[in-house]
Amino acid sequence: MPDYNSEPQITVLDAGGQYCHLIARKVRELGVSAEVRPSGTPAADLARSKGIIISGGPASVYEPDSPQVDPGIFRAGKPVLGICYGMQLMAHLLGGTVKRGEKGEFGLSLLKTVPAPLFENISEPQQQVWMSHRDTVTGLPPGFQAIGSTDNCAIAAMADFARSLYAVQFHPEVVHTCRGIEMLENFALRICGCEKDWNPKHRIPLLKRRIQEIAGDRNVFFFVSGGVDSSVAFILCVQALGAGRVRGIYVDTGLMREGETDFVQRTFEELAPGAVVIEPAETRFLRALEGVRDPERKRRIIGEEFVRVQEEIIESGHILEGDWILGQGTIYPDTIESGGDGNAAVIKTHHNRVPGIQQLIASGRIVEPLTSFYKDEVREIGEELGLPAELLYRHPFPGPGLAVRCLCSETAAPVRRAEDGWLLPIRSVGVQGDSRSYGPVLAFERYPEPALFEEATALVNRLPEINRVVALVDSNAPLASLRSFESSLTPDRLARLRRADAAVRRLSHHSGFDRLVWQFPVILIPLGVPERTDSVVLRPIDSVDGMTARAVPMDRALLDEIARELLRMDGIAAVFYDLTHKPPATIEWE
Ligand code: XMP
Repeated sequence: MPDYNSEPQITVLDAGGQYCHLIARKVRELGVSAEVRPSGTPAADLARSKGIIISGGPASVYEPDSPQVDPGIFRAGKPVLGICYGMQLMAHLLGGTVKRGEKGEFGLSLLKTVPAPLFENISEPQQQVWMSHRDTVTGLPPGFQAIGSTDNCAIAAMADFARSLYAVQFHPEVVHTCRGIEMLENFALRICGCEKDWNPKHRIPLLKRRIQEIAGDRNVFFFVSGGVDSSVAFILCVQALGAGRVRGIYVDTGLMREGETDFVQRTFEELAPGAVVIEPAETRFLRALEGVRDPERKRRIIGEEFVRVQEEIIESGHILEGDWILGQGTIYPDTIESGGDGNAAVIKTHHNRVPGIQQLIASGRIVEPLTSFYKDEVREIGEELGLPAELLYRHPFPGPGLAVRCLCSETAAPVRRAEDGWLLPIRSVGVQGDSRSYGPVLAFERYPEPALFEEATALVNRLPEINRVVALVDSNAPLASLRSFESSLTPDRLARLRRADAAVRRLSHHSGFDRLVWQFPVILIPLGVPERTDSVVLRPIDSVDGMTARAVPMDRALLDEIARELLRMDGIAAVFYDLTHKPPATIEWE
């Protein structure tokens, strides 16, 4: 078995692309160990890798601070694959020409290839590939030849066979590049000669030994959330050290879904009886949120309150003085700065900023057994440890809980007729360009048929002041009669959302729909009529990591059943369906 700290066979040099972790994950899915390192890692430090991949990134090689690689990697005699920016950098450093592009090429293209080891066993004369670039390689470096082209890009792939240097302008790591996995497989197994050495489950005995080494005779405590990462890390520690030496505290913020706290209690009671304690904190969280409407303020208050609760627990448990170390479920992507939208990061930073925790970290009193694994691998490890599928395969749920799904409003205003539908007097969060927007929502008075999703996309592209489009599924009052109500996060509204969310979850679970989507937020918006002052928005999405997402349509029979049940509930005036992808909308409404 390879050593826990051994060099990976494939090193992915991170040139700033959101895809660098995706590349490493795809290589690992082939059974080959892969890790991400900073782009500038010296060639000497990569001596034990069998191959190097330079990732894509948003920069241009002509920008002064653009990510660089050590040119020594091209002389080390080991194969290198440059992807997108990685290709441009390779061309630039080896004497080729890169042309600055204004327009760029984004989306699907057809790639024509010539025979090359990278395309071995890919027999189609043309393949669909995914492009996302502005600059282009227009002149080959000495020793290279073009091995692939598209209509817009004469050198879409190039190689110097003698030196085993390969580069592609498209992204083989994304699903839209149909044969991308085979290309990565050809590179890793055929060109680099890697062996299949990676299986997360085989690492469990090693992980347990590491936990024992780090803990020594000290005990470990965790803040568990009921999420996959902290649960798997917790159980690993329990199995490594014995239940008596590991303790978990679950903070009940009162912002959880129906039955969540019971679920966590029940699950851990079965896995490690007596090891997890519930800290009820509902009252203080709701008090701190009283009258608050602004989404950013809601987030800030929840983060700060969480920090306070953690600090009190650490102090009252004499943990700082005792023989305790902190366990955390940090996973691989959390350990590397990613350029993504820092949403989850903000809340996580808050939690990590507790001075007590910082003290523990600074004095080396921390164990994080999962820092080399991706989410799917953590799930595999969890399965092997005997964690129930119900816990491992649950949809991700955001730290601030239902607070980001219970919209508040400062104004009372009617809906307004617009050219393409109705403007709802409700603002939601979105991502447009590189920044967050907080804009109005447009509602179609039409059933959310699949074709409507494309219409919604076209509309948001045309009207940048709107970041979200919904379709009316059904209502207890005409859409034209709806208005917004001044509202905040009250216990009543949270209870209403909890009931709606529970009903939607039950029906989508029974029908199997929940297995078709990555996440299914149910949102309460303060829009209705005086007797029914809220509406519900359904937001099922598909995604890989939450960074981008596609709105997913639902079968009509199920949607009608959900809408009927929601409209029978107290206080609910209408049911909408969110048609917007991310970007331009975010997954949560906040
Ligand atoms: P957005 O709304 O930014 O959400 O498109 C992307 C993904 O992140 C989740 N999310 C969070 N997760 N703490 C978390 O642990 C947070 O503060 C947080 N905010 C959003 C969201 O549910 C989605 O999966």
